[in-house]
Amino acid sequence: MLLIKNIGLLATPLGSTVRCGAAQGEIKEYRSAAVLVDDEGMIAGVYENGELPEVECETLDAGGRLVTPGLVDAHTHLVFGGWRAHEVPLKIAGASYLDILNAGGGILNTLVNTRKATEDELFERSLGFLDEEFGFGVTTVEVKSGYGLNKETELKQLRVIRRLNEEAKQDVVSTFLGAHAVPAEFKGDPDGYIDYLIREVLPVVAEEKLADFCDVFTESSVFNVEQSKKLLLAAQKLGLPSKIHADEIDPLGGSELAGEIGAVSAEHLIATKDSGIAAMAKSKTVACLLPQTSLYLGKPFARARDMISAGVPVAIATDFNPGSCPSLNLQLSMNLGYLRYRMYPGEVLTAVTLNAACAIGMGEKVGSAEKGKQADLVIWNADELPMLLYRMGSNQVKTVIKKGKIYETH
Ligand code: NIG
Ligand code: FE
Repeated sequence: MLLIKNIGLLATPLGSTVRCGAAQGEIKEYRSAAVLVDDEGMIAGVYENGELPEVECETLDAGGRLVTPGLVDAHTHLVFGGWRAHEVPLKIAGASYLDILNAGGGILNTLVNTRKATEDELFERSLGFLDEEFGFGVTTVEVKSGYGLNKETELKQLRVIRRLNEEAKQDVVSTFLGAHAVPAEFKGDPDGYIDYLIREVLPVVAEEKLADFCDVFTESSVFNVEQSKKLLLAAQKLGLPSKIHADEIDPLGGSELAGEIGAVSAEHLIATKDSGIAAMAKSKTVACLLPQTSLYLGKPFARARDMISAGVPVAIATDFNPGSCPSLNLQLSMNLGYLRYRMYPGEVLTAVTLNAACAIGMGEKVGSAEKGKQADLVIWNADELPMLLYRMGSNQVKTVIKKGKIYETH
């Protein structure tokens, strides 16, 4: 048993399902709180107003600080070879993300380095990324494949993700993103590539239980709505629920498709139209917003306020990848959510805890500090949520607790 005591403020959303509309900002606040953790690393009780359980056990003094649930990063591409620092000057000179991709760079450049790397090399490097992210208070992470774009390398990436779940400190959820770009082998034939994925790759992914979700990049000069739908419905038949990279650059209809096929989440949504927002509200698809990508690509920020008003549950993540977001700092996404999405502190907290957990099928286990959930918690060098969101650029983590295990970071 472990008793975390002297918590100045424990701030957490409640429940195991998505919070939307006004409920997105409803945060339970326990003052002068304590959390009791059992020997399995689960929360056994939450106490407030100086009340303490009568148990003899190890204690951890939170020093009157703010405590929240561990952060959940619901969208990363963290298994890849190489970097793409050379693209930034091209962008400064005026090239767009799609210009670089269409010239054989971008994702297709990372593909070369990911195909070259061995499984062990990818694993070690990705484990290092997860360690770095843990230091930012992130205790659960979703990781996508999508830099192999052939059977061999996609499966290699997915095996790495499964190994990360075994060996990293975090829980790691796996998403198959074989439809991330059209590889040179299928240049000009996206339909042929989608058919290849459905015929040759998806059945193995499902059979070997290598992924929890299937995702697709629905975008101009990548995959259109019909191709995306075909792949996602085939994956659903094999038991893989859907995610969609939708409206990142052009509003092709990805968010409308997310609503139509009941996708668990739609990602980016920078250019989403009213019809996409309405479709996602109806299906309670989580809008997984990635503000650091807007910053990095010099794009507008997603319409988070309109989404919340319409009843779409909103999550915020990093999008960590070598092209559009080389940052693992989820706190920076929170700062941008506060400042640029104009989300209130409670809404931002829900976006990186409970709603993010629900976006990756982990809402029953993590995402809130409640009896019966995993004891995944962060002690912050801050006393209130507005302070945490205000100090942009600093890592404000004091201590991370994962399944009841204590990791001092600062
Ligand atoms: O989410 N949009 C597609 N995928 C990533 C970028 C991947 C890359 O550029 O390597 C994203 O932004
Ligand atoms: Fe992404």
